[in-house]
Amino acid sequence: MSHYKDTIAPHGGRLVNRIATSDQKQEFLEKASYLSRITINDRSRSDLEMIAIGGFSPLTGFMEKHDYDSVVSQMHLSNGLPWSIPVTLPVSEEIAASLTEGSLVRLDDTSGQFIGVLELTQKYTYDKSREVACVYRTDDEKHPGVKVIYQQGAVNLAGPVYLLTRNPHPLFPAYQIDPAASRAQFREKGWKTVVGFQTRNPIHRAHEYIQKCALETVDGLFLHPLVGATKSDDIPADVRMRCYEILLEKYFPRDRVILAIFPAAMRYAGPREAIFHALVRKNYGCTHFIVGRDHAGVGDYYGTYDAQHIFDEFDPELLGITPMKFEHAFYCTRTQQMATSKTSSSTPEERVHLSGTKVREMLRRGELPPPEFSRPEVAAELIKAMKPLVGI
Ligand code: ADX
Repeated sequence: MSHYKDTIAPHGGRLVNRIATSDQKQEFLEKASYLSRITINDRSRSDLEMIAIGGFSPLTGFMEKHDYDSVVSQMHLSNGLPWSIPVTLPVSEEIAASLTEGSLVRLDDTSGQFIGVLELTQKYTYDKSREVACVYRTDDEKHPGVKVIYQQGAVNLAGPVYLLTRNPHPLFPAYQIDPAASRAQFREKGWKTVVGFQTRNPIHRAHEYIQKCALETVDGLFLHPLVGATKSDDIPADVRMRCYEILLEKYFPRDRVILAIFPAAMRYAGPREAIFHALVRKNYGCTHFIVGRDHAGVGDYYGTYDAQHIFDEFDPELLGITPMKFEHAFYCTRTQQMATSKTSSSTPEERVHLSGTKVREMLRRGELPPPEFSRPEVAAELIKAMKPLVGI
């Protein structure tokens, strides 16, 4: 047994585990046929999983109204801990009316499989327009996160949850490293400082640059691509994971990097999601978290550095994880290397920067992203993977 203590405590001090024990599972299976049953969508399934594995510590279930209200308006749970995104289980009024507070509710996934149990403590209506205005800073239904809120049910179910079984991930079992396991790996490696990296895009050179800048000052890098639900035009997770594998093989010191999947759904809530992403990575054992330009943003809804500024609104002690903030990185043709305006005196014409949107458009046209943007091996993989998807 290791005597090395984790350098960073989980949010709230204790790593939550809501995976049913074998006795609990047995009990739930026996009751399964007569419990009220609801089907939950992919986002709620992701949330259930994140809660159960401790990624959302200190949450032990879907938020009750006092926490929901406090998170929406104050970005803190009612106990005073920072938390910026509501974690709720919305259902229609008809479904809510069929359920009784104080009862156990069986949770099935969209394929009809019994995956979890909710101890229903509360059901409450909520104000969608207030939620989107506060959390997403817009009420525009074209915003992919706002759209989800407007489309979801009008009543939130709340209460502690159990995940029936922790199944291996169907696509990436080798990269399914839950918070207790990532903490154990960091301990084994003797890493005292670890920087977490959130991403929903294929890795490009600006990502690689900021990851390596961070890696110059900390012991390890925890590469944590999000593989939960994303908007339909984002690059699929299996393609992104392959790009990471290819890149790590050749361009990174393998012993200083751990690649793992982040099973949460993407909200596109920009600044609020940056705080959420950081807190969750703290639960995985990271001491630092990278926040670059327009973190978790979409379209033009957020200012380039809003997701960095929002950290100033929190008590660093309560956050407990340190943001590593990076300016917009680009390839500088004068010095032939990656840089930001902090490290380069290049003119705008000497700066090569492509947005994810532009690259997706190039790939759809069958064009290879240039080496200034993407390592050639990654560009080749992207083109190969996108061909059947876009019919080129
Ligand atoms: S995100 O929605 O998951 O944030 P993305 O995968 O594009 O999207 O970004 C991952 C991280 O890299 C975020 O912290 C983002 O701010 C940062 N990032 C992406 N591109 C750049 C860039 N060119 N310069 C600096 N930071 C960047």
